[in-house]
Amino acid sequence: MGPRGCVMQGWRLYVMAGVCVAALLLWLLLGLEKQQPDPRPTALPQGRFVRSVGGDIQRRPRSELRTQPPRVLCLVVTSPQYHQGRARHLRATWGKEGSGACPNTVFLTTAPDDILQNVIISNFSRYEDLWGKVLEGLMSLNTSAADWFLKADDDTFLIYPHLLSLLAPLDPSKALYLGLPLVYRPEGGEEVTYMSGGAGYVLSRAALVRLQAAHAPARCRNPGHTRYEDVNMGYCMADLGVREVDTRDALNRPRFLPYPPWRLLQPHPSPDLTWLTNFSKYKFHFGAQSLSDRVVSFHEIRDPVDFYLLQYLVYDLRLLPQGSSRPFTPSKTPPQ
Ligand SMILES: *[C@@H]1O[C@H](CO)[C@@H](O)[C@H](O)[C@H]1NC(C)=O
Ligand SMILES: *[C@@H]1O[C@H](CO)[C@@H](O)[C@H](O)[C@H]1NC(C)=O
Ligand SMILES: *[C@@H]1O[C@H](CO)[C@@H](O)[C@H](O)[C@H]1NC(C)=O
Repeated sequence: MGPRGCVMQGWRLYVMAGVCVAALLLWLLLGLEKQQPDPRPTALPQGRFVRSVGGDIQRRPRSELRTQPPRVLCLVVTSPQYHQGRARHLRATWGKEGSGACPNTVFLTTAPDDILQNVIISNFSRYEDLWGKVLEGLMSLNTSAADWFLKADDDTFLIYPHLLSLLAPLDPSKALYLGLPLVYRPEGGEEVTYMSGGAGYVLSRAALVRLQAAHAPARCRNPGHTRYEDVNMGYCMADLGVREVDTRDALNRPRFLPYPPWRLLQPHPSPDLTWLTNFSKYKFHFGAQSLSDRVVSFHEIRDPVDFYLLQYLVYDLRLLPQGSSRPFTPSKTPPQ
């Protein structure tokens, strides 16, 4: 409506003049608003950005990043003969179902099975092809799906909350490699630090991106430099310039462990474990005081019962703090 239709006589003139002025103002305002830029905010760019109160787009401060728990994908390497005896129990405990479970667990195997959901099927079925299989599994992962990628075996027990607390202060956009560092010293060859495969190792997103893009470094290919999957990964990471992270706790005790606790607790280990003393990058000590109280993993958990035993001891058993013990209170309804 325009102002031209407002021509009246007498006292009504004043009332209608007011209405007309208001209509004129409204008309002008609507016109003005059309010329203003769209006040809706533009979408945030991809990555770590936040919008300030004033609407500016800024990089998210690092301190704020750390409040978000890291996203971890757990890739468990198994094979059909161990689906029932190992992978099933792993899945029922730390892999996907139990308390403290890794929420994003994927099994790498050579045949599908209803008892394992989320599988990557590989055509490498022989144990000697393990490097090819792991490489194939890592190549097929979506690097945007997580910040960190753990490779574990079907006889690894993972304490996921401790893994999260280890990873939380680290930046997954840096190429990093974490685990239990061992040193491989071939006779007359080039020595390399690698992370124990059984205890599990972790690649940051940036390290996995480099691995997936690596067509040039010969040692990231199958067949590998050696016949050991974890040693090959060590050479591959070194070739790609991926940095190793010291995962020991504040008392220099290891968090990734290549054996079950009951084998490492004896101060004088059985002869088949002494290789660890020779191969460990940092001096490896046996006995309860020498293992971290923030352990991330144990390996060679092969009796199904042991998965549930560790699950119970780690997550269900609640130790009362010292001095807080109260007298035993019987339950209100005594058993019939
Ligand atoms: C698995 O498939 C890849 C890619 O097709 C091939 O290069 C490799 O030789 C195969 N491995 C086996 C053990 O058949
Ligand atoms: C990879 O993961 C991201 C984030 O979850 C998702 O948006 C994307 O669609 C995935 N890509 C593929 C090919 O699955
Ligand atoms: C460990 O090192 C010692 C001393 O160098 C050597 O005698 C022993 O054979 C080594 N053991 C293993 C299992 O490599």
